[in-house]
Amino acid sequence: MITQETIQQILSRIDIYEIVGSFVKLKKRGANYLGLCPFHNEKSPSFTVSPTKEIYKCFGCGKSGNAIGFIMELEKYSYVEALKWLANKYGVTIEETETSPEVKLIQQAADSLYIINNFARDFFANALFESEEGNDVALSYLKQRGFREDVIRKFQLGYDPASGNQFAQAATAAQYSPEYLQKSGLVVVRDGRAMDNYRGRIIFPVHNQSGKVLGFGARVIKTNDKSPKYINTPENEIYVKSKILYGSYFARTAIDKADECLLVEGYTDVVSLHQAGVENVVASGGTSLTPDQLRLVKKYTNNLTIIYDGDSAGVKAALRGLDLALEEGLNVKLVLIPDKEDPDSYVNKVGASAFIEFVKEQKKDFVLFQLGIALQDAGNDSNKKSQIVNQVAETISKINKTEEFTRRQDYIKQVSEILKIEEAGLNALVNKFIRDKVTKDETRSFRNEQAAAEDADTTVVPETGDAELLFQRDELNERAMLRSLLEFGLMKWENAKTVAEYIFEQVPEDDLDTFICNPALRDIFTRYKTWYREGLEPTIKNFLYNEDREMNSLVINLMEVNTEISPNWKQKFEGHIPTREELFKEEVISTLKYLQLRKIKKLIDENQREMEQAGSSEDQMNFLALHQMLKTMEIDLTKGLGTVIFK
Ligand code: GTP
Ligand code: MN
Repeated sequence: MITQETIQQILSRIDIYEIVGSFVKLKKRGANYLGLCPFHNEKSPSFTVSPTKEIYKCFGCGKSGNAIGFIMELEKYSYVEALKWLANKYGVTIEETETSPEVKLIQQAADSLYIINNFARDFFANALFESEEGNDVALSYLKQRGFREDVIRKFQLGYDPASGNQFAQAATAAQYSPEYLQKSGLVVVRDGRAMDNYRGRIIFPVHNQSGKVLGFGARVIKTNDKSPKYINTPENEIYVKSKILYGSYFARTAIDKADECLLVEGYTDVVSLHQAGVENVVASGGTSLTPDQLRLVKKYTNNLTIIYDGDSAGVKAALRGLDLALEEGLNVKLVLIPDKEDPDSYVNKVGASAFIEFVKEQKKDFVLFQLGIALQDAGNDSNKKSQIVNQVAETISKINKTEEFTRRQDYIKQVSEILKIEEAGLNALVNKFIRDKVTKDETRSFRNEQAAAEDADTTVVPETGDAELLFQRDELNERAMLRSLLEFGLMKWENAKTVAEYIFEQVPEDDLDTFICNPALRDIFTRYKTWYREGLEPTIKNFLYNEDREMNSLVINLMEVNTEISPNWKQKFEGHIPTREELFKEEVISTLKYLQLRKIKKLIDENQREMEQAGSSEDQMNFLALHQMLKTMEIDLTKGLGTVIFK
């Protein structure tokens, strides 16, 4: 682990303008800088950097973060890798803390496995190209299948000689530990003798995204063998199957460029497509995609195209779990290769350009494809058909990010046409699924508060009893309150009192749950208060660089980085347009009032319920008195809010 001191040294040097500016051409626009977003293709700039808030935000693709997040996103680095990059840039020497003995053991194991794998990769490649057996048996096989030598070298393919223990002997002579040799899966012990596990097989090294060799896939050459076609590295400290996509190292830049990731089943599919010039391709190994693999894809692109052979068991496997892909915001397309071919054989048969054309033409939307299959299965059974409507509505409801609204509506339109049902009906059904999910989901977050939060004078209040709207407005006001605290907390309220202290007074400790219903927002509030009380500066910067990544991104979401001025303000204040900073008191008061009002309404409701059940008339009188008091408070607060009329 990097020490806290080192992290502080790095953080104190970070200048987001400088860091982003070394990758993106930025122009000054008001207090911010504007440029073309490096994360998606755009012609007019919507990528904004705020040096004062130390964050970037793209209004085109929605990506946002701090300087560390920028480096992580752009270079696909982990948090630690990004810190190391920054340390290097600013000439900070990295000090690392002592790691615990358990962690050390795992690191040692991982290091040893990487070293052994490198040795093995070189040994196998050498055996393929430099030995007579390798040339005659393996290289000739690969060439006969159509693989070019440059591609074989690029993917570092190799061969393990058939005699039985040549690799084991070489590794032992090079003093690698027998324990790790077994753990790596390269060597097995038979009758007390160390044998090559992959003897007589073609070797496909499996790399991680940065090119380190995690393990191997080993293919038999003569398929009439009884033994399995492929043997893969067993799970160990570095080979974790559920997190691996074969080819990701060779595909990453191409995926970025094409803004699309192709997914195939096998090693040979990846290699063949590369050879044909299609480089944005990775393989899953034929199993259904895991959440970790989906996340890996999502690091590079939102567009996933699955290319499988039509009758493979893999298709069903691939389709499983893809609702999860929708939830992650991935756009999933499907291409089926015909006639018992797979991508490797098909591209060899029809050639590169016909293959690319085929994929482009046959690309089917995953949701519509699934619907097609389900309809075929259902035939004329109307029971089954209504099941399908529910299923597809639920699937569509997974597309529920604010920025995906249009996409969702497109689906609703298309699906209702296919199913010959009314669009409005399907829409309602989808909304029901979304609502059900939202009610269940405690840590939901609403992004579309921008407009409401912009105008301090239009604190939103419910006009109707629509529960969902009410819920959204509650959420907006809770968020607005947190934003005020973060942005204005250290400013002066009156006399010696800060804005933070004023807010603390208004939001009593033992009543926090009623004031802030969203637990994630409540955590920020509590963290702020603790830091403040302990004399630590609860600045936005400290929030953004704290180790809790989820809290970080929520804080970034709360911040607004807006270069536009709302038309309301323009009309209202001709000439001088006041900034949010100038109006901060109004903003603080109005959001607090909303939340207080909400609380009083809740108390009134509770009181009413108890009043209805009260036994004695004395009790009833007490409840009534309380009711009147609460009503007076409600009216006072409502007056303060201006034109608001409460139901
Ligand atoms: P070729 O037949 O040489 O073209 O290989 P392929 O990659 O096309 O193989 P196939 O389509 O049969 O299988 C797809 C993927 O599933 C392979 O690349 C492997 O990752 C995996 N796989 C196939 N057969 C086996 C096996 O017997 N054992 C294991 N563990 N994995 C296999
Ligand atoms: Mn194949």
